[in-house]
This record gives sequence, structure tokens and C-alpha cells, in this order.
Amino acid sequence: MRDSRPAPGATDARDPATADTGWWREAVVYQVYVRSFADSDGDGLGDVGGLRARLPHLVDLGVDALWINPWYPSPMADGGYDVADYRDVEPAFGTLADAEELLAEAHAAGLRVLLDVVPNHSSDAHPWFREALAGSAAARARFVFRPGRGPAGAEPPNDWESAFGGPAWTRTHAADGTPGDWYLHLFAPGQPDFDWTNPEVREDFVRTLRFWFDRGVDGFRIDVAHGLVKTEGLPDADLPPGADRSHPHPAWDQDGVHEIYREWRRIADSYDPPRVFVAEAWVRSSERLADYLRPDELHTAFQFDFLRAPWRADLLRSVAEEALAAAARVGAPSTWVLSNHDVPRHVTRYARPQPEAVLDLDAYREHSSGQVPDLATGLRRARAAALLMLALPGTAYVYQGEELGLEEVEDLPDALRQDPVWVQSGFTDPGRDGCRVPLPWTGEGPSLGFSPSGAGRPWLPQPPHWAGLAVDVQRDDPASVLSLYRDALRLRREHLLGRDDVAFPPAAPGVLVLRRGDVEVTVNTTAEPVALPAGRLLLASTPLGDGGLLPADAAAWTTRG
Ligand code: NOJ
Repeated sequence: MRDSRPAPGATDARDPATADTGWWREAVVYQVYVRSFADSDGDGLGDVGGLRARLPHLVDLGVDALWINPWYPSPMADGGYDVADYRDVEPAFGTLADAEELLAEAHAAGLRVLLDVVPNHSSDAHPWFREALAGSAAARARFVFRPGRGPAGAEPPNDWESAFGGPAWTRTHAADGTPGDWYLHLFAPGQPDFDWTNPEVREDFVRTLRFWFDRGVDGFRIDVAHGLVKTEGLPDADLPPGADRSHPHPAWDQDGVHEIYREWRRIADSYDPPRVFVAEAWVRSSERLADYLRPDELHTAFQFDFLRAPWRADLLRSVAEEALAAAARVGAPSTWVLSNHDVPRHVTRYARPQPEAVLDLDAYREHSSGQVPDLATGLRRARAAALLMLALPGTAYVYQGEELGLEEVEDLPDALRQDPVWVQSGFTDPGRDGCRVPLPWTGEGPSLGFSPSGAGRPWLPQPPHWAGLAVDVQRDDPASVLSLYRDALRLRREHLLGRDDVAFPPAAPGVLVLRRGDVEVTVNTTAEPVALPAGRLLLASTPLGDGGLLPADAAAWTTRG
């Protein structure tokens, strides 16, 4: 079992009775993609019952909190990010009563629980959107309906593209087939954007926040936090060819969005203990991201440049330094993440020749296409990257399965793909199903313990070799990825929490050194072994070589204390 004692002077984030309200400043949060975590009723889909049954895994791992991806009623046009009712639970996942049980059990186990709020858009099955299509003017005013351009309005109202591919507009039709206005969807057609200039939209989200806060939810991850407010008049984006996310766009990261979060912060602060937020905001610089973290706005925001950085010491260092500096200017902690349910798992990202720069994910896909992954190298690097991430000051998110060393499943049969990206990209982008494959819990059984025995197949097939990566196979193996994460979380608590000092002393090319108090973290991204600083070894991502050298693609924590 893990050692649950906090290090001297550290925040005891695990004991709600004594916890500092700043627990979120250095928490490790485990991301639960509920469809793929654990299935309790045998339908091949993960559910709340499965999560409840597997809470001991998270306690044993030593995380402080969970973030649960949307579990609300949804037609699943986008894996639950198309919400039909914000204040209930999807029947395939369980009931509201199950959710309340989960909250109680997680809290009793010392785990906080963050949910995922999806304010930019709903589902086209949301009652408001149905009323809008049926002709209610009040309901239409909660979404973004516009007449088309060109003769007979046959062209979309502007040139915006959906993040999943294709136009961001779909035309509506009357019952007799007569074409009408278009509605905006920055994502799938089944995800109509709300109009945040409408006070009813604002009020309804306040109700949703309160609904879950009143049930003890500790906070929210905010989906597409940078999307809610659009430039007035919805002008064309006029993007130059090849423009990436760093290019300003009238749909994204508009200054007006901050006022919404000031209101949300006041609501979160009115609870005891105060509730917290983490923003998903893909913005063009660490400075823009820090704007979301001003003291009267959101508590934390994912630092995606770290996730996008290739396995190169200089880039990992510059991204980390820049992020820390930008967040520090507004008094916020940085929030590190290596993988999530939207990006190829980092074992696989690191398994191909690494780009020379921090690339947008589309550019990364192009860069790596046609290159065969070397998964053994990817895994070595992933283990090392975990030791870097977990040593950085701030909060860290661990995506389910990362603690098992799972790779992206790149060979799913096309017929089973469910991500709308696959269809909307015209079958050129395989989408995100490959990082959403159900977890292996046991080394045996038809679904590797994901579903109860005798159940149907999991919603996506697991690679057979994941039997060797199952939780019960790794649990007692001191060399496993699971043991590495567990050890790192324990040592983080003992040596690193409660301090915000950080220095990056000079290091040889290809080597990153990070110093925090008595602990020195050495990350070797070169192909040659390097010497470690004098001191006691706390943890290494791979066994040290002859003479105590740190091998290629490895990291170690040493201490002078
Ligand atoms: C970000 C979520 O993480 C992703 O899964 C989803 O497709 C989009 N937002 C749209 O909600």
C-alpha cells in the first residue's frame, strides 16, 4: 500500500478534514474516460459501477483526485461531449444515485472528484435544440442560427471550419424539406453551439454548476473554455493556407470569455470548501493561457505545449520554463499533462523520429505518417517523461492507462471507429478512438477484466498483448510502469510537495536537469549514457548502467539530502 503520510510542511491533500483549500495547486489528478475504464454490467461499455469497483486502484496508485469525462445523457455523437441533459447521468453509465454513491465513496477514500462541464455546445438532442428546430424563437435565440450567404442562402454564413473537419455550419430544413437557416457547430453537427450573449444560457450553466457542487463535486474541467464567446457579427476567419491554432480566429479565445469565468469563480468560492476549475483552452501562447488564471478567474488550465513538445531536452525545458513563468506572473500553478482522450498516447508519440519543434497535432500526424513506431523506445521515453512531469511544480494529470504504459492502438478496424473525426475528415484522420481502448485489468479473460466474465465484447477491441500490461500483472512487479508511477507519486509527496522552488541548472546538450530543493531530476534524451549528480538515487525510470550512469532515454531523481 502507498504511504499516505504527507511530507513535513506539505499540504495534506488527501484528508478532506484537514486539507488546505489549496490542494489543487499540486494535486495529481487521474483522468477517467468512463466508457473505457471498467464495465460493471457486461454491456461492453464502462460505467459508474465499474469506476466505483475500481476506486482501490486509484487509492493504491496514490492520486489525489479524479476528473471524470462527461457522464451525462448523450446520443454519443462525440463520446458524451454532446450533452442532452447537464443535470443527470447517461443511463448506459448508471443513475444519478450511482453518481452520488461514487462521490461519497471517492471522498471517503480521500479522493476529490472533478466533473467535465461542456458549455460551448450541447447535443442536438438537448430539449432546447429540439424546441429550436421545432420553431420556438426563444429556443433558437439560445443557439447560433443565421441565414446562409449566396443565392437562396445556399452557402454557410461564414468561412469557419469545424474542429473535426468540414464547415462549422449545418443547414436546417422544414418538415416539408424546405431549406432554412444554418446553425453553428464548432465541432460535430450533433453539437450545436450555444449563444453566450443570451442570459438564459448563462443562467442555465450556473444552475448546472450549483447542481453538481451541491452534491459535493469538488470542481470542473471546462471543455473548450476558449470557445464560448465569438466575435460580434461572426466575421470570416480568413485564415491563410496552413494556419494552425496559433493564428487568431473570431471563434476562439475572445476577451469576452473572461467575464463568464469571473462569475463562475464567485460561485465556486461561495462553497465550503471552495470548488475549483481546470480549463481546456487551446490558446496561442502561455501569456494568453495565463489570462484564464488571473486570481478572480480559473484556478488551473492545461499546459498543452508540454504535451505537444517532442522528446527533446531543450524544447521540454523551454516549454516548462515559459509555462512556469507565465503562470507565476498571475500567481497560478502550472498544470502538466502528457496524454488525454484527444491525443495519441505518448508512448506512441515518442516512438517515432521526433520533430525539431513543438508541433500542432495535425502537423505532428503529418510528420510521423509512414514511420513505423519503435514502441520499446517510446515506452522508455514515456517512463522518463513521467518522472519529469511528476517532478515539476504544479498539478499533473494522468490519463487512464498511462500508468500501465499503454500505447495508441493504431490498427483498429475502420468499421469500429466511433470518433466523428474519422467521418468528418473524409476518412483521412483516424481520430481519437486509438487512445480510448478499454483498460486491461486482468491478464486473462476475453476482455482482460474490463467487463465481468461472460459479458459481450468491449466497445473497442484490446490488443492481445495488453494481457501482459494488465493491472493485476503489473501490480506486484517492482519494474512495471505501474510501480514506477506509484513510487513516483509516493516520493513526490515525501520530497517535492509544499515547495514551489525550481531551477534548471546548465546541462549537457540533450540533457535536462531540474532542481527542486535537495532533489535533482536528470532527463537524458540523448542516445548515450550520462553521469548523474552526486547523491542518493531516489528513483530511476530504467535501471542504471555500469558505473551508475543514466542510460539513453531515461530519467532519475537523486537527492543530496
Ligand atoms: C474537447 C474534448 O476533450 C473533446 O473530446 C471534444 O471532442 C471537444 N472538446 C468538443 O467537446
